[in-house]
Amino acid sequence: MCGIVGYLGKEKALDIILASLKRLEYRGYDSWGFVVYNGKKIFLKKVVGKITEAENIAGVQNGFVGIGHTRWATHGKVSENNAHPHFDCQQKIFLVHNGIIENYDLLKEKLLNKGHKFNSETDTEVICHLLEDYKKKFKNLKQAVLETLKELRGSFALVIFDKDNPELLIGVRLASPLILGVGEKEFILASDLLPINLVGQKFIALNDEEIVFVTKKDFEIKNFTNQQKLYLFQEIRWGQEDIEKGDFPDFMIKEIFETPRAVRNTLKGRLLSDEVKLGGIELLGDKLNKISKIVLTGCGTAYYAGLVGKYVFEELTDFQIEIDVASELRYRNYKFDDKTALIAISQSGETADTLEVIKEAKKKNIITLGIVNVPGSSISRIVDAGIFTYAGPERAVASTKAYYSQITALIMLAIFLGLRRKLSRSEAKNILEELKTIPEKQEKILNLESEIIKIASDLTKSRSMLYLGRKFNYPVALEGALKMKEIAYIHAEAYPGGEMKHGPLALVEHDFPVVFINPHDSLYSKSLSNIEEIKARGAKVITITDDINCHFEENFIFVHHTLELLTPLLTTLPLHLLAYHTAKLLNRNIDRPRNLAKSVTVE
Ligand code: F6R
Repeated sequence: MCGIVGYLGKEKALDIILASLKRLEYRGYDSWGFVVYNGKKIFLKKVVGKITEAENIAGVQNGFVGIGHTRWATHGKVSENNAHPHFDCQQKIFLVHNGIIENYDLLKEKLLNKGHKFNSETDTEVICHLLEDYKKKFKNLKQAVLETLKELRGSFALVIFDKDNPELLIGVRLASPLILGVGEKEFILASDLLPINLVGQKFIALNDEEIVFVTKKDFEIKNFTNQQKLYLFQEIRWGQEDIEKGDFPDFMIKEIFETPRAVRNTLKGRLLSDEVKLGGIELLGDKLNKISKIVLTGCGTAYYAGLVGKYVFEELTDFQIEIDVASELRYRNYKFDDKTALIAISQSGETADTLEVIKEAKKKNIITLGIVNVPGSSISRIVDAGIFTYAGPERAVASTKAYYSQITALIMLAIFLGLRRKLSRSEAKNILEELKTIPEKQEKILNLESEIIKIASDLTKSRSMLYLGRKFNYPVALEGALKMKEIAYIHAEAYPGGEMKHGPLALVEHDFPVVFINPHDSLYSKSLSNIEEIKARGAKVITITDDINCHFEENFIFVHHTLELLTPLLTTLPLHLLAYHTAKLLNRNIDRPRNLAKSVTVE
């Protein structure tokens, strides 16, 4: 978490740093800070709270170079002193850091014994003082960086500025993301792609153990042993409107409304009448034939998309399917064998736990596939092959549109692999035809906003809720409950409908809210019995269904009918809207829920 940025270019460092921090704010938002230098004077600001311009930049002049940071505290409480940039004793070397320095306590003790004065409680500050010592020793900043890196353990992306070398900006990456954006005589370094188009569309995603030395005219990329590295330019596919809120009050609602477009983009160019084209996966050729088991993984919402994927793969293929959250799977004594393929799902492509599972799997030489939204991200570069979801940038902390794209990609992958095994072309054709209609059906659900607001207004006083669904819609229940907890702060639990009588039914009393996802699928009538069971105990049931007879129910949200395996693409949408509007009515900070940050790049 935390967002870092650095800029070197055309006398507008302050503007670029502030605009970048706003774009990176979703990564951390308890405090922020920057340094800007105009050739004469250093302007340093550290602020606790929101990134606002006017009051905090009074007296700050623009400059040609600067670095900035938005913080999500890990080491050291939220305070001005602990906000970045951090600096050395002489206040010449400034740096911003995303990640964790695991051996900082030992390093700090050593540096304190040498007489260094610390200004913060962070792990980061040791780097500034190490750089100070090595700069003094080698009289060369680049050498100082290389020596300092030898001492650091952990994960870090750094941007370093030194007043004695003002036309040099240094970026370092080890297990935390860092992107270099290349414009016309200007460069930007940032934790992710969002700020990059402030200077241009071209970017290079740095690899682990790489350092970039940026000057006003050029840049060079080296590894930690000072050898030149080759690099690959990539191009950003989205424009300004994709990363601005536009007329929407929050990014989350904007992104929910972008769902149909996200799904269309995931499908684009990949569907033939009875088969699926997946360029990246096809490159694996015969290797795909030896797979007999698939293990799915991810965290949070991406994991729930994976859970939908599990049911889909079981329906369309004959693989043995397993799934676990990455934070558990990475520590399990899981026996990957050479017939297994791992499918890792991640919007950001940077989630630390998911990344670790992939690294473990790679050590065992099994095929790793990624379903990732952000090009250039760590996961997209480490996996053997994958599918980009192309949902466009997600800025709200709570993931929404990416989830639908992830499920869409998993369905395409299941069809692609299924066709090599048990799935017939006519079955594939039937699913693909229906899949193409999904964005339109989603648009119709988005039109139901006012009905959903009415239901939301009944929920604002609830302290607790249940979400129930079965089979394909059990993951939907989990996702609905997660969003209600995450942004409305209402306790919500999800269960498979059939589990009620094994315990949770005891919770149900008069007016207890229960959301039941019950489309006309293979378990429809069983779910109806479950609904009767909870209604008889006085529950207030909100049904998500495609059954028109449900008009007789008091609280229901109608979704259009689709194939059973595609229902999550529709039934989740009312739940995202329900959580959003409940949170809105409760006046929650929707895009920045308390205690949470997007892109969980630390454990
Ligand atoms: C929930 C949410 C998180 C993310 C999770 C994984 O609304 O957004 O649970 O889904 O942190 O993130 P990615 O997909 O970036 O790996």
